[in-house]
Amino acid sequence: MNNAIRLQYLAAMGINVWLPRVVSAVEHALPTAMTEPDILMTTNPIEDEQVHPTLANSNDWDILKSEVQNCTLCALCNSRTQTVFGTGNQRADWLIIGEAPGEQEDKQGQPFVGVAGQLLTEMLRAIGLSREEVFITNILKCRPPNNRDPHVDEIKHCKDYLQRQQQLIKPKIILAVGRIAAQTLLETNDPLAKLRGKVHTLNNTPMVVVYHPAYLLRSLPEKRKAWQDLQLAKQTVIAMENKICVD
Ligand code: URA
Repeated sequence: MNNAIRLQYLAAMGINVWLPRVVSAVEHALPTAMTEPDILMTTNPIEDEQVHPTLANSNDWDILKSEVQNCTLCALCNSRTQTVFGTGNQRADWLIIGEAPGEQEDKQGQPFVGVAGQLLTEMLRAIGLSREEVFITNILKCRPPNNRDPHVDEIKHCKDYLQRQQQLIKPKIILAVGRIAAQTLLETNDPLAKLRGKVHTLNNTPMVVVYHPAYLLRSLPEKRKAWQDLQLAKQTVIAMENKICVD
């Protein structure tokens, strides 16, 4: 993506872009926004036991991948072009979970590759992360027709795949992207506005909820909140890492 488009995305998120002589705009954007005060913690993730793996079990990973690829547990197998397992680092500190593949994702076999995906890439970059170092996946591994919301039985059948991904990756933090991902993972109907701005816990791993980039593209007033949530997630990881160093 060229720099002009990247800067457009950052500006759309309300991130102050500084144009230094040598250091990238994103590296400068981070500290300027880290002073946001209105952050709530519902749990103390620092007290969670986080054991980061030296190696994920690649055999288990390959088995899981092949199970997903050949899955016929729900009717979405009939309409999909292909499954979308997820992409990125199998030993990532950050596990990013969206809702379900859309049209582009179904075509390309990768999560978040459409316009919303480009914004997600820029949101990650804004906190110093590349797509390659995180792992990005979805609640559903197949595209629901016409991008409708996932059905209960589809979520139920796909749940085990996501849980096994989390167990193998052992991320330090989970970012739930959008209302459906957040509500599904937290098993609640609470609106996203109520779920964001806090650190939740999912299977002993801290989880932060962030607005879906597709929503942010339509509703720019929420961009500042999305930036705060990314900062909250980042600070949570830093706090955990500092605690591990002290212990
Ligand atoms: N939206 C999602 O939630 N996931 C994708 O992979 C693409 C768009």
